[in-house]
Amino acid sequence: MRILVVIPAAGSGTRFGGDIPKQFRPLQGKPVLQHVVERFLVHEDVARIMVAVTEKLLTVVAQNESDRVRFTAGGETRLDSVMSAFTAAGDDGYDIVAVHDAVRPFFFDATFIEAVSTAAEFGAAMPGIPIIDTLHAVRNEFIDTTFDVSSLVLAQTPQCFRYEVLRDVLYKAAAEHERGTDEAGLAARFGVKVKLIPGDPMNFKITHPDDLAVAEAIMARWGQQGAQP
Ligand code: CTP
Ligand code: MG
Repeated sequence: MRILVVIPAAGSGTRFGGDIPKQFRPLQGKPVLQHVVERFLVHEDVARIMVAVTEKLLTVVAQNESDRVRFTAGGETRLDSVMSAFTAAGDDGYDIVAVHDAVRPFFFDATFIEAVSTAAEFGAAMPGIPIIDTLHAVRNEFIDTTFDVSSLVLAQTPQCFRYEVLRDVLYKAAAEHERGTDEAGLAARFGVKVKLIPGDPMNFKITHPDDLAVAEAIMARWGQQGAQP
């Protein structure tokens, strides 16, 4: 099995704020992105990790064609960055592509493994978690309607696809100028069956500064235990 991992890391982190984008902020002394890359590198089936970063950053990275981790220029949107990294990786006999946010350092190995095997069997897989809070639609600052959340899930990554499945979805999205905030949703819109696998609240996306403080606490706990729970 040959797996390509695509990591969009070209965002500016406007909600997080500050001068350094959140994916490069230190977490236990190491950039968040590095934690994420290392979590994938331990898997032997991962043949290549293609990271999309800003063009400016690309000029300061030295890299060889043979490196397992490679960097390429991202784009305006997350989808553009994924597209760019996917294209830069080329068709090198990959069976599965995993797309993972640069700012989710706490995915479980088991989740990745299950997403890969589910994608191999069904074509596409996405980890998701149920919504535990009540969800209202608000209009003019007053509650309009309340949703039945029983069939709703929050999307997480790594989202995995058979190589050809994601290739077709990305090219179709480009051709039809489709926008989407994740590839699983885009795939589903194009008629691909995306199988849900269990995600975990621990696999949250670092979005605001407080999330990094939570991440530090989790890292410290994992460090003490010697491994993830
Ligand atoms: N991303 C990207 N290229 C973009 C926008 C986002 O590669 N043009 C990446 C981010 O770096 C991140 C992932 O997509 O790893 C998820 O996006 P998000 O959490 O929204 O990050 P940002 O877009 O950077 O943050 P914000 O929306 O607060 O500006
Ligand atoms: Mg964003």
